[in-house]
Amino acid sequence: MNISVVGLGYVGLPLAIQFARSGANVVGLDVDEAKVRQINAGRSYIKHIADKTIGEVLSANHLSASTDFSQVRQADAVIICVPTPLNKNREPDISFILDTGRRIAPHLAKGALVILESTTYPGTTDQDLRRVIEKHSNLKAGVDFHLAFSPEREDPGNPNSVVATIPKVVGGFTPACLEKALTVYSMALKRLVPVSSCRVAEAAKLLENIFRSVNIALVNELKLVYGAMGIDIWEVIEAAKTKPFGFMAFYPGPGLGGHCIPIDPFYLTWKAREYGRNTRFIELAGEINTAMPEHVIHCVTDALNSHKKAVRGSRILVLGLAYKPDVDDERESPSYVLMDLLSSRGAEVEYYDPYVPTIGLTREHSQWAGKRSVEWDETTIGSFDLILIATNHSAVDYQELGKWARCIVDTRNAMASIPVSKAKIWKA
Ligand SMILES: NC(=O)c1ccc[n+]([C@@H]2O[C@H](COP(=O)([O-])OP(=O)(O)OC[C@H]3O[C@@H](n4cnc5c(N)ncnc54)[C@H](O)[C@@H]3O)[C@@H](O)[C@H]2O)c1
Repeated sequence: MNISVVGLGYVGLPLAIQFARSGANVVGLDVDEAKVRQINAGRSYIKHIADKTIGEVLSANHLSASTDFSQVRQADAVIICVPTPLNKNREPDISFILDTGRRIAPHLAKGALVILESTTYPGTTDQDLRRVIEKHSNLKAGVDFHLAFSPEREDPGNPNSVVATIPKVVGGFTPACLEKALTVYSMALKRLVPVSSCRVAEAAKLLENIFRSVNIALVNELKLVYGAMGIDIWEVIEAAKTKPFGFMAFYPGPGLGGHCIPIDPFYLTWKAREYGRNTRFIELAGEINTAMPEHVIHCVTDALNSHKKAVRGSRILVLGLAYKPDVDDERESPSYVLMDLLSSRGAEVEYYDPYVPTIGLTREHSQWAGKRSVEWDETTIGSFDLILIATNHSAVDYQELGKWARCIVDTRNAMASIPVSKAKIWKA
């Protein structure tokens, strides 16, 4: 089977590899020439994907990468995994999906299957993407080509999360489209969950991410309430999670990060307006979660104050730039917001992250581009007035941190089991 995977990022690359390992001939298409070059040279640009893994499927001639979209001509299935961000007005930006539709349409073979995997609002596949492909191909969906939506479920940083074994929801534009999509995926994936339409599949993905956003907001709010009562939210969650039914643990943090949870819920908010509906849970969760960095800054201020210092002029190290532990993905990371807030208050800000040695160009925090992670040694760490733990990477030696740091603000409970003087640690 010939498969084209469009968009070779955190979602597309592992999927392309999984199909290639399962015996498909996979062409990975991307507009980023650097990524295409790296894959063809057998080099990975994602921390949890080894060069060796890419090398194996390359040398078996099951994977190649290209920027030439005419290669879609040979594809039995084209799977689209391109970004779906929000624009500066926090509205859905599906331009990457539409651009892909325009690029693949002229080359699409009759009978081919197009599957969208990017997270988006219900209606994107059977309206927006369908229209653009039909317009640029003279083919009709459900008649001349098959169309489906199947959301990606990635858990970056979780070594037990393997593409092949994560159940996959699949919805088709027609029953025949669904059938074809199930046949294609069953080649590489173990458990498929068919649903009645593309829209149900799109809505299921949004439900999953809204569920996370709302529950994270709940524990973030409870952290403040219990904190005011002198009760430690982390201990409360540990106790509550011993309940063997009806409870799922979520953890507070310094704010939301990553490509999904801070963004996807607002795809639904935007679409709901078209139907005269409000998404109050989503808005409230967004409000609580985006207020968390300010709360952290208050804690930093109090902690410095207790050492007779002001934020202005203090040297502060943000520990962990990636948005979650043990990944190298710092997109939408709250660490950037914390760095911005501290810097705007006159602090001298540095960061340490073993997985992000240098900050690349980001859309919203471009002033940090080119900044390098500091070294991990006693002199460097001990030179800061305060260490702000924003992400609890497991590779960090918290015993050393406890010995070397003068003052620590911990937003992740990373220091829970480390014997350090109480005067040194602030839980945020
Ligand atoms: N990262 C996750 O954990 C995760 C999990 C589930 C779902 N998703 C969703 O999957 C989608 C992709 O996310 P990602 O994290 O892989 O993004 P990513 O930024 O890592 O990768 C996207 C890739 O698409 C390429 N691209 C952009 N425009 C293109 C175009 N017009 N044609 C071809 N390639 C193009 C980019 O160069 C990049 O390599 C998003 O909708 C995201 O919400 C992501």
